[in-house]
Amino acid sequence: MTEFTDPDLQERIRPVPLQQAYRLLNTGATVLVASAHAGRRNVMAAAWNMPLEFSPARIAVVIDKSTWTRELVEASGRMVVSVPTQRIADLAFAVGSRSGRDGDKFEALGISTMPAAEGTPPLVAGCCGWLDCRVLPEPHVQQAYDIFVAEVVAAWADARVFADGKYRPLEQIAPLDRTLHHLGAGRFVVPGAQIEARPA
Ligand SMILES: Cc1cc2nc3c(=O)[nH]c(=O)nc-3n(C[C@H](O)[C@H](O)[C@H](O)COP(=O)(O)O)c2cc1C
Repeated sequence: MTEFTDPDLQERIRPVPLQQAYRLLNTGATVLVASAHAGRRNVMAAAWNMPLEFSPARIAVVIDKSTWTRELVEASGRMVVSVPTQRIADLAFAVGSRSGRDGDKFEALGISTMPAAEGTPPLVAGCCGWLDCRVLPEPHVQQAYDIFVAEVVAAWADARVFADGKYRPLEQIAPLDRTLHHLGAGRFVVPGAQIEARPA
């Protein structure tokens, strides 16, 4: 293994304001959280999400108390998490910049959807993956940290992007079909290179 040396590193290190420290970690794909309850539906963007467990499949998403999504998710115990692609970057930002309380975002933004099962929130088109989730009630973490833990009860992916249980090699995925990674304020990184690390 090549030894890593960087003689100027000390000089380049700067303090990061704590309110922005999360941006150092927050490089996973931004998702869309769709919700539905009592005949009403909604969708918002969520960059703060993570896998928690392989089997049973569990994930966690931060859903702020200020969002209408939170009301619908708490009331229904369901959410569909979709993984948007560069194709719908503007839309992903838009659903994260306005509230469904002010009007149906699906209609206002012309969002195409596909039905999941009867009564479940919709699957958003222009995404490469969809996870139908049942919330596992954890009142303390929901209240204290806005974290919603959920079990994935069904999942689908666009075979052009994700096959045999994993993302295809990046060079096989058209740029518009690649995932969005939020840097803040509507700036996203789209994966541009894939490397293969070797064991030492
Ligand atoms: C790219 C992006 C990522 C976001 N990530 C989150 C998140 O992880 N958790 C959250 O609560 N809000 C997040 N937001 C903000 C919500 O999407 C935003 O408050 C939205 O308007 C809520 O909509 P609603 O009131 O219709 O539910 C994000 C916004 C953007 C643009």
